[in-house]
Amino acid sequence: KYCFHGQFFIYYLLMLMNVYISAHNLPFQLHSVYERLLRAEQRGEVLSKELLKVLGQLQNRSIAPSNHTISNSSAILEERVLRRLLPSQPDAHIYLPHLKEHEDSLKPIVHLGQRRSGVSLVLGVPTVHRQKQSYLVNTLQSLLFDLSTAERKDIVIVVFIAETNAIFVNAVVQSVQTNLPDAVSAGVIEVISPSPHYYPDLSNLKETFGDPKERVRWRTKQNLDYSFLMLYAQSKGTYYVQLEDDIIAKQGFFESMKKFIAYVLSEEWLFLEFSQLGFIGKLFRTSDLPMIVEFFLMFHKDKPIDWLLDHILWVKVCNPEKDSKHCHNEKARLKRTYKPSLFQHVGLHSSLPGKIQNLKDKDFGNQVLFKGHNNPLAELRSSLEKYLSHTLERAYNGVDFFWGLTPKRGDYILITFITPQAVKGYLFRSGNIETNGDRFYNTTVEVLPTSKSVKVRVTRGELACCKPSSDGFVQIGSFKNGMAEGEVDGALGEIAAMRLLVHSDSDVWVLLSEVNHIHITYK
Ligand SMILES: *[C@@H]1O[C@H](CO)[C@@H](O)[C@H](O)[C@H]1NC(C)=O
Ligand SMILES: *[C@@H]1O[C@H](CO)[C@@H](O)[C@H](O)[C@H]1NC(C)=O
Ligand SMILES: *[C@@H]1O[C@H](CO)[C@@H](O)[C@H](O)[C@H]1NC(C)=O
Ligand SMILES: *[C@@H]1O[C@H](CO)[C@@H](O)[C@H](O)[C@H]1NC(C)=O
Repeated sequence: KYCFHGQFFIYYLLMLMNVYISAHNLPFQLHSVYERLLRAEQRGEVLSKELLKVLGQLQNRSIAPSNHTISNSSAILEERVLRRLLPSQPDAHIYLPHLKEHEDSLKPIVHLGQRRSGVSLVLGVPTVHRQKQSYLVNTLQSLLFDLSTAERKDIVIVVFIAETNAIFVNAVVQSVQTNLPDAVSAGVIEVISPSPHYYPDLSNLKETFGDPKERVRWRTKQNLDYSFLMLYAQSKGTYYVQLEDDIIAKQGFFESMKKFIAYVLSEEWLFLEFSQLGFIGKLFRTSDLPMIVEFFLMFHKDKPIDWLLDHILWVKVCNPEKDSKHCHNEKARLKRTYKPSLFQHVGLHSSLPGKIQNLKDKDFGNQVLFKGHNNPLAELRSSLEKYLSHTLERAYNGVDFFWGLTPKRGDYILITFITPQAVKGYLFRSGNIETNGDRFYNTTVEVLPTSKSVKVRVTRGELACCKPSSDGFVQIGSFKNGMAEGEVDGALGEIAAMRLLVHSDSDVWVLLSEVNHIHITYK
């Protein structure tokens, strides 16, 4: 009887919301509330008492004359309804009894960030100590590479340092702060680590499925890492995407995800796959995370995380009395795969010692890594050693990017125009979405005016635009966040050459992905 009432009210509520939606053509958010209700109803997790309250409020709202705008009312509606419908946090203490000894053992230490919430997309990037190279900064730079201003406001990237060694944690925090200061201060990137009391003793685990001790430890810790990160991410936005610290993103990935979500919005699914690699690029509704985390925690010692996720699907839709084909088809309905893949591995070294990570996603394809322009004829010289066929000539001519080995102080790129040009402006972009860290750092843009009197005026400090440099060159700009862009003061007259001059040794290679001179012919 109780059950019958619950069902009845759910249907009543859905009907009411249906009326709301069709009558007001409410935006996306409300559709997702509607969708959550549908799913909640399917899960049978919602108590009729809770629904009664919500229903009462909805009835009051629909009866009371109100001047709320649609977005206003939908925002209120969503918040009220969601607060009641979101499942509560899983009780981690049941599955991790050692947590009871320390009250704060589930609380993250937030090292960097503005505690941003209310975004569409939360990207979770766990990072661990690797014996070889760290790709974390490059991963973050790749994710940020071509986000629009609006997208930057609608996303938060949570870096979870899955270690408790304070020296390592601080080193990662410093490196993110140093390399991505703007994204950190804007709140786009957050860096957290777990309480030192979070991990249980991982030294005494049962070896299963023929996995050696080290692998069992690694996969158990991965279950705990992902669970911690998901719990933290859950309240920050609408969708959560699981990533890793050794990936590159495809251009426009955010837009592609949004479109795909909209495309499958009204359908029943548990996760969307935006990559073919293990757990990378799996997207969940944050409202599903408590259930998923609870499952992971329950079996964290037993199986690797991708198997556990598959088991969730099994539990939800497979009928043990039917054959495996039926089960396979049913599970396939709950996961949707998007192609081409939006994330690709870069790392050759897995965090599991000795495990070489040469898994590549075949569905990632190639992306354009440079932007070509018609530049005036010029003779090109550089002290930088090129990598493979990525020559300066090919970059200048707009058919490739230039890739040079680690710049040292005093290294340069010199562009000498065949005939002097009246250069109006310039744009040099270093890095690209795959190697966005290979930038020009502490590098100035300089021009060589043809006129002797202009050089004299610059030396005397008579031109506000410019500072004298060596060899008759005049400094007109510098690289900031990998880009140098600006206008050239007309007072400089005709320009014989342009030069990029490196002022300090770099730790990384450099990649020039765009060269553009906006020029006119001088009369
Ligand atoms: C609906 O409105 C009535 C009258 O204003 C009020 O007494 C009641 O508490 C409201 N119900 C809810 C659930 O807010
Ligand atoms: C709604 O707004 C209109 C115009 O802004 C106003 O005349 C009217 O009194 C308002 N109604 C209520 C119920 O606040
Ligand atoms: C929502 O509507 C209420 C009542 O009209 C108003 O006081 C409030 O400022 C509005 N909020 C937003 C975010 O527009
Ligand atoms: C740039 O290089 C100059 C000269 O080597 C040095 O004095 C300066 O500190 C460097 N600036 C940065 C931001 O590294």
